[in-house]
Amino acid sequence: MSEAALPVAFDSMRREDLPEVLAIESLSFTEPWTEEMFLYELSAEGVAHVLVARADEGSGPRIVGFLCAWIVAGELHINNIAVHPGYRRRGVASQLLEEMLRRAKVMGAKAGYLEVRASNEAANALYQRYGFRQIGRRRNYYERPREDAILMGKEPL
Ligand SMILES: CC(C)(COP(=O)(O)OP(=O)(O)OC[C@H]1O[C@@H](n2cnc3c(N)ncnc32)[C@H](O)[C@@H]1OP(=O)(O)O)[C@@H](O)C(=O)NCCC(=O)NCCS
Repeated sequence: MSEAALPVAFDSMRREDLPEVLAIESLSFTEPWTEEMFLYELSAEGVAHVLVARADEGSGPRIVGFLCAWIVAGELHINNIAVHPGYRRRGVASQLLEEMLRRAKVMGAKAGYLEVRASNEAANALYQRYGFRQIGRRRNYYERPREDAILMGKEPL
């Protein structure tokens, strides 16, 4: 994490957080998750873990990033992470990832997995920094634009 990391507070996502989360999602992806997809995460209690990071730079706390993961059968699966474009490169994603890795270990997860667009240098660099390594590739996994997914794993967590 960079020295100028933005101080953030973590919470589990609640329904009332959806407008802020959806705004960040649509600013971050060409194929954003829909409201229904986030609602499904909220309903999958005990399996899905959605963390929001809030920062307050003087105008009250606001959500600056989030991370969606599942913890199933001793495995952490990171399904989505995004930081508001106005708050990037300030260590927010790093802190979200560290917090989720910490919680997953407490919950008994032994390994972590995720998929990332091959061209997503920012996310690839972030995950490598936290010990994820390429373990596979799915050809033409993504649309808009069509692109391979890199499968990454961290074993042990
Ligand atoms: C990927 C993303 C979540 C990173 O969030 P962030 O809060 O800016 O990340 P951090 O500040 O914690 O960066 C941690 C490290 O990741 C790497 N990194 C982050 N952004 C980078 C970029 N644009 N280019 C290269 N490396 C980058 C760097 O190693 C960085 O450390 P440094 O700033 O000390 O050099 C953010 O760019 C984002 O929301 N992108 C759009 C959504 C997305 O692609 N999500 C990932 C889907 S798999």
